[in-house]
Amino acid sequence: MSIASLLRLFALWLILHNLVVARSIRPLPRHIALDHAKVLLGKQLFFDPILSEDRTISCASCHDLQHGGDDGLRYSIGVHQRQGEINAPTVYNSHFNFRQFWDGRAKDLKAQVYGPITNPKEMNHSMASSVKRLKQERGYLKAFEAIYTEGITSDTIADAIAEFEKALITPNAPFDRYLNGDTHAITPQVKRGYYLFESKGCILCHHGINVGGNSYNKFGIYRDSNSTQLGRYNITHRELDRYLFKVPSLRNVALTAPYMHDGRVDTLEDAVELMAKYQLGRYMEQSEIADIVSFLKSLTGEIPKIAE
Ligand code: HEC
Ligand code: HEC
Repeated sequence: MSIASLLRLFALWLILHNLVVARSIRPLPRHIALDHAKVLLGKQLFFDPILSEDRTISCASCHDLQHGGDDGLRYSIGVHQRQGEINAPTVYNSHFNFRQFWDGRAKDLKAQVYGPITNPKEMNHSMASSVKRLKQERGYLKAFEAIYTEGITSDTIADAIAEFEKALITPNAPFDRYLNGDTHAITPQVKRGYYLFESKGCILCHHGINVGGNSYNKFGIYRDSNSTQLGRYNITHRELDRYLFKVPSLRNVALTAPYMHDGRVDTLEDAVELMAKYQLGRYMEQSEIADIVSFLKSLTGEIPKIAE
């Protein structure tokens, strides 16, 4: 076979792969490799308000692990009752997102940790002062030294919290059980909803292991979304990136109302209708919306033991 025909074959494979494999939904793994000592330390830090300026707010204040991993508010409330300006996403399964934050400004979970600790409207603190405070606690000193030769530093704080967040996976959703071969795990209505989700084009943006979380897209393709937030533009300052947001994961979406980066809608029905109009330029029947919503509800997984 000539090089040219090999190249053609490769190009064809790439196109097919892109169309079929990359645009599908994959089940969450039940377990991933973790360092358990770090996970336990990270958990303690995640729940400890010591990381906030006035010792009132912890990561868990805005990421409630018993209620979907977010705060259920349109905008979060940080120290001194300060209100933020963007909706808090869930921390569940965030390890599988290709970037963190709506505008993707953190490359991974470890890089993300610095954001809330230093954000004036969230924990309004500094990493240096967090290190100093933790060093005054015998329990933390011992726990860090048992794991990290360098002891307590900004980097090891972020590392431990990120390791805990990696453990926050919600496997075994009815839809995952279906993908894994249990054809009875979902109802006929969920199957119809999944079919619509694919055939209407939702899957073009919401796919992969997190049913989203692996690309950026413009919010408001067929109509102006009237967003006050600029999305990726914040980072790149390129006109093309205005209103580009990380496509959110739809895992456990039934638990994380309100929806969109500005929490503009309260129900899944309204979120689906809005997506159809803004992202696909389509009108959808109420029965189609109901079917898609029942599919979205089948993406609710099991809370891991470590979150309890
Ligand atoms: C005052 C509320 C608040 C606190 C406290 C808070 N967060 Fe958040 N969190 C948010 C908001 C709001 C966002 C979205 C910010 C953005 O995208 O610009 C967010 C985003 C995230 C994300 C990104 C998820 C994704 O899909 O992009 C992770 C991970 C996260 N927070 C973890 C943490 C950790 C770890 C802590 C503690 C160190 C913490 N948060 C403290 C409100 C909070
Ligand atoms: C062209 C890409 C694209 C398509 C197609 C698309 N979405 Fe979205 N979806 C997004 C983006 C981007 C957001 C975030 C919008 C924002 O900035 O708030 C989003 C947000 C959502 C949300 C809110 C999630 C949350 O946590 O706030 C839901 C639910 C949703 N989409 C479902 C759907 C459904 C159902 C369809 C098909 C009818 C669909 N999407 C089609 C890109 C898309």
